[in-house]
Amino acid sequence: MKPDDALELRPGQSTELLKELHILTREGRINQDSRRKLKQVYHLYQFIEKLLLELPAAPDRPTLADHGAGKSYLGFILYDLFFRPRGCGHIYGVETRSELVERSRALAARLGFERMSFLNLSAAAAADETALPDTIDVVTALHACDTATDDAIAFGLRKKARFMVLVPCCQAELAACLRQNKALSLSRTPLAELWRHPLHTRELGSQITNVLRCLYLEASGYQVTVTELVGWEHSLKNELILARWTGQRRHSAAQRLRALLAEFGLESLEARRYPGLP
Ligand SMILES: C[S@@+](CC[C@H](N)C(=O)[O-])C[C@H]1O[C@@H](n2cnc3c(N)ncnc32)[C@H](O)[C@@H]1O
Repeated sequence: MKPDDALELRPGQSTELLKELHILTREGRINQDSRRKLKQVYHLYQFIEKLLLELPAAPDRPTLADHGAGKSYLGFILYDLFFRPRGCGHIYGVETRSELVERSRALAARLGFERMSFLNLSAAAAADETALPDTIDVVTALHACDTATDDAIAFGLRKKARFMVLVPCCQAELAACLRQNKALSLSRTPLAELWRHPLHTRELGSQITNVLRCLYLEASGYQVTVTELVGWEHSLKNELILARWTGQRRHSAAQRLRALLAEFGLESLEARRYPGLP
């Protein structure tokens, strides 16, 4: 291994895992194409590690559910660096593509990562899945498509998550509602100019969706911070929403959320997306 490569690997880290994830070549060198991916996942790892360290120690904890897990890069790195050395806790990957679930299961079995489970489920169905425990400490959703982030939030609320770490992806649901009511909105308010052009409808739709998500979390007892996911420059979707359970449900956030829905003619979304609003 070149000294440069060694710097990027952590003590005790499974080189076998990194080879399987194609981050290391068969010869054990850092794959140049994957160097960036490794940096990104480390960045998120460092962020999540701090949250995991805040959780009370218990034999079967921490528990973490990753929605829209894909190839489970994040889950595997978290397990290898945090869960494996501690010998406790469990990671659940939730993913709709069965081939990715099978692949992750096989890889976890090969590496002996016993406390990882992969569920071939949608984020929406996961809350009712009996294979998952009643409470989950940390919910993550990294570029989970469209409304999967909303489903991950609903899951986190049901499972009384202590933390939710969300990097939303593209979002189409709200933009479709904006589009539907466009003519009416344009006649009603000059603000509708903000979503008159299709590109703006899409972008504003994403922006409002994330604002509403934050308000919903605040109304549901979470403290929310929104930052940029550093190192994710290649992606336009690099907004990181961190929700930390405090138990203080903010009524003003619920009021604001409803006012925003009314302002944009989106009241029909309340029952579907924000059913727990006080
Ligand atoms: C853009 S990929 C991100 C994968 C991974 N989180 C990452 O960042 O490398 C989104 C993944 O979410 C999955 N997905 C899409 N909708 C989903 C849903 N409703 N529930 C669970 N998984 C979903 C897709 O199959 C895909 O693997």
